[in-house]
Amino acid sequence: MLGIGASAALAPAAAMAQEAGAAPTGKQTDPAHETPEQRASRARRLAWWREAKFGMFIHWGLYSIIGHQEWVLESEGVPIPQYEILARHFKPKPGAAREWARLAKRAGQKYMVLTTKHHEGFCLWDTKLTDYNAMKQGPGRDLVREFVDAARAEGLRVGFYYSLMDWHHPDGAKCETDEEARKRFVAYTHGLIRELLTNYGKIDILWYDVDKPLTSAQWEAEKMNQMVFDLQPEIIVNNRNGLAGDFSTPEHKIEAAQRAWESCDTMNLGWGYQKNDTEWKSPTRIVNDLTICAQQGGNYLLNIGPKPDGSVPEESVRVLERVGQWLDVNGKAIYGTDGGASVSFGNYDNFTRKGNTLYIHVYFWPGGTPAAEWLTYYQPGTVVSVGGVKAKALSARLLKTGEPVQFTQDDIHLCLTGLPATAPDDPVTVIEVECDRPPVVDHHLIRPMWQRYKVGISS
Ligand code: GLC
Repeated sequence: MLGIGASAALAPAAAMAQEAGAAPTGKQTDPAHETPEQRASRARRLAWWREAKFGMFIHWGLYSIIGHQEWVLESEGVPIPQYEILARHFKPKPGAAREWARLAKRAGQKYMVLTTKHHEGFCLWDTKLTDYNAMKQGPGRDLVREFVDAARAEGLRVGFYYSLMDWHHPDGAKCETDEEARKRFVAYTHGLIRELLTNYGKIDILWYDVDKPLTSAQWEAEKMNQMVFDLQPEIIVNNRNGLAGDFSTPEHKIEAAQRAWESCDTMNLGWGYQKNDTEWKSPTRIVNDLTICAQQGGNYLLNIGPKPDGSVPEESVRVLERVGQWLDVNGKAIYGTDGGASVSFGNYDNFTRKGNTLYIHVYFWPGGTPAAEWLTYYQPGTVVSVGGVKAKALSARLLKTGEPVQFTQDDIHLCLTGLPATAPDDPVTVIEVECDRPPVVDHHLIRPMWQRYKVGISS
């Protein structure tokens, strides 16, 4: 940890950060015992990311050549000398990273995170610490440099995924039982991270992965994070090096936490390229997952698994472009939203909020309700009804067209009426409702209002 008077010894960037507020420290601190300065530093470093909400994850490496996902080396027991041959045959096309970055931009994603080294151990950059790298092998290029340049050219923030677990390095497994091997391997690991955070300018995110087989103490994880913050004082780090870091990382699920969190997920079933996996999520599903993350105050990191030449599977492109078109119209209902819009879910809608504005995201358009023929409640025609809105609605409009939406409201529900019979937007229609205070949707609120159950038919 930096002590008082340590700033003279800091790198210039770190000294600048200290002027702007406290420099982050690698030392693990229980959030309950964080100093106000530590909290302020974290809030400052996370500010752009909380606003951004949506990022692109990229799983790409030698495994992409086989096309059986990124765990192929271990799950199929491929002998290392066989696997190493892939490195000579890895020949990505020029400009692949530019394609990803342009796609991310079109998709409305604000940051990108690339697997600089996955569990297979192959380094996509020009490292001096092993020849098992993209510069010395097939590509003959620094693929991390290309990625960084491409992201910056599109104005996107840059993130590095880095797997601590390493199936290729001779000490990668031995380090658990052999202290000399541990020391060598930890020095190698810290050295690789140091290169990544020294040679590519400002890096916004360090996304550690799998800390097997060592404990955080054995990884010297506090020292690792301290080095990271000394090199990149504004960076944010995740929680997968055995320490809590700045944010948590639920995987294949959306799980809100009492701290910054980011749910990472795939567009089909796997992370790395899997040739015959056609289980693609629909644009509705992706928009909805992104909305749930925003609703609960988190981020969404959505993966692409490029082919060995770097091109993105057509279905990913199609879906991401569709999501991007939707965000072009509805972005204000996602980016920079506050979280906490609702404590309950609708059956066809979700909610986000910003200040006093409630966004109702209708993903299954109602209307054509059979009951509309005889229940006055569902007239006229299409009604979007939200139970338990804790705020008074002042005005409402469709984000897609800007058209005003009529509504009535009482203690039980906000009832938006006069809506078209078919969904005005695709895959999700957003209705923007201005309220008199920060709105919260909580269906449970109306449960005690028993009078609404008063029966008309005598029992
Ligand atoms: C897991 C997997 C890995 C994937 C990662 C993404 O840790 O081991 O293959 O990169 O999750 O979150």
